[in-house]
Amino acid sequence: MAIKRKHFRYRDIDELRAEIEKLGLSIRLENRIDKLLEPVRVGHKTVGNALGIHPMEGCDCTSDGKPGELTVRRWERFGTGGSKLIWGEATAVLDEAKANSRQLLISKDTVGSIASMLEITRTSHRNTFGPNEEVLVGMQLTHSGRYCYQKPMIAFRHPVVDRITLLDKKRGVPIPDDYPVVSDDYLERLEDVYVEAAKLAWHIGFDFVDLKQCHSYLLNELLAAKTRKGKYGGSFENRTRFIRNVIGKIQAEIGNDLILGSRLNVYDGIAYTQDVDTGIGVPSEMLDMYPYGFGVDEDTPPNSDMAEPKKLIRLLKELGVKLINVSMGSPYYNPHIGRPFERPPIDGYETPEHPLIGVDRHFRLTKQVQEDNPDLPIVGTGYSWLQNYVVNAGEANARDGHVSFVAVGRGALAYPDFAKDTTENGGMLKKKSCVAVSYCTALMRAKATPLGQYPSGCVPRDKIYAPIYKEAEKALASK
Ligand SMILES: Cc1cc2nc3c(=O)[nH]c(=O)nc-3n(C[C@H](O)[C@H](O)[C@H](O)COP(=O)(O)O)c2cc1C
Repeated sequence: MAIKRKHFRYRDIDELRAEIEKLGLSIRLENRIDKLLEPVRVGHKTVGNALGIHPMEGCDCTSDGKPGELTVRRWERFGTGGSKLIWGEATAVLDEAKANSRQLLISKDTVGSIASMLEITRTSHRNTFGPNEEVLVGMQLTHSGRYCYQKPMIAFRHPVVDRITLLDKKRGVPIPDDYPVVSDDYLERLEDVYVEAAKLAWHIGFDFVDLKQCHSYLLNELLAAKTRKGKYGGSFENRTRFIRNVIGKIQAEIGNDLILGSRLNVYDGIAYTQDVDTGIGVPSEMLDMYPYGFGVDEDTPPNSDMAEPKKLIRLLKELGVKLINVSMGSPYYNPHIGRPFERPPIDGYETPEHPLIGVDRHFRLTKQVQEDNPDLPIVGTGYSWLQNYVVNAGEANARDGHVSFVAVGRGALAYPDFAKDTTENGGMLKKKSCVAVSYCTALMRAKATPLGQYPSGCVPRDKIYAPIYKEAEKALASK
């Protein structure tokens, strides 16, 4: 039986500070917001403030991968929101690479409609903030790997996660023991697919592309492919071959005008499952040796080991990557790590830790990366659970040199103009903030429509999603 706990019950910032102290965490909160309103340099561009919007897909594209009405609406809302860094949502490089049937796809057929959406975003920003104010907008290139919606495409065999990697999603049948990993030939061809996708993004005016290496999708798995044989597995050099090759090829074709970024996991964590008695998340299985996670200590899992993530980020910087977005965890097997929540989605588990501990983990690991690379713009994640205190914690992190950009994911669906309010009024409003109750994640999991996917958005704060959720809930409940 699932228990219902309420963690976020602070009447003011001092009560939140008291809880942080009680838990022995190092999160700081500033009262005045200054630093976040200052410009930040990224490559050859100057970004107007240090506030950002994380990639947030709405699973609302057409089935051939073009933006739908709700996709354009979301980007337009981000454009008028005042954040100067807009990190575009997951955009598949191939149809087979999509995580759901309504994910954005970059191809010769879709690029025109994506260009129109980008133009609408920039225009809406210009109309709201004036002709001199530009935003930095990026396209996140993705291959969903193990979580491709048509069939799993795995980088290596994982003794725990393979058991919940479904070949037949309707019947819940996992991949068999002899299921193959993607071949080296496939990966070699895929490198060129990424280059073509980056070229298309560049031609239509994106400021940067993100070579996504997070959330247990294909390029993230490659980083952790210690047990994989062949030239993309085993040593750190082999596991970074794909990303190194893609960067080199993009630079050879485009030069350095297109800014390269990467959203990456600095900590994969281990798989969790729901305890049947309490409903709380518990580790699926604790293996003594754990050569299956990036940034996870092989000898003492699930502890983090930042040696390789730091090495990777230094390497990416040397290769010319100008923007890093630090993330962690898998939305599929340990969602509390990546997105600390108040309440789980309908098919998830109750958080096994106080969400502030999750927020603090994000901040601590991001700090390590920023301190290791003081001149590299680093974007922080995991803020939304803090509701209207996102900017107070972000300001402290920015002033302390622990992060360069403070961005929100779920918070941006709830409150796309949080940056505008912060700039105009010195802070965010509680009544507009994300409450981290996971309806957006639940909608992502809802598939029973003729298009194979419900659109996702903020049910408590954005009125058009309440009726959508009502309909999807019926489908989820009958699962
Ligand atoms: C509905 C939904 C869609 C998301 N889409 C993406 C995406 O397209 N790409 C990505 O890297 N992360 C995606 N994320 C993860 C968020 O960007 C972010 O990392 C996560 O929500 C934690 O940040 P927050 O606490 O600010 O929400 C998504 C999360 C949710 C809930």
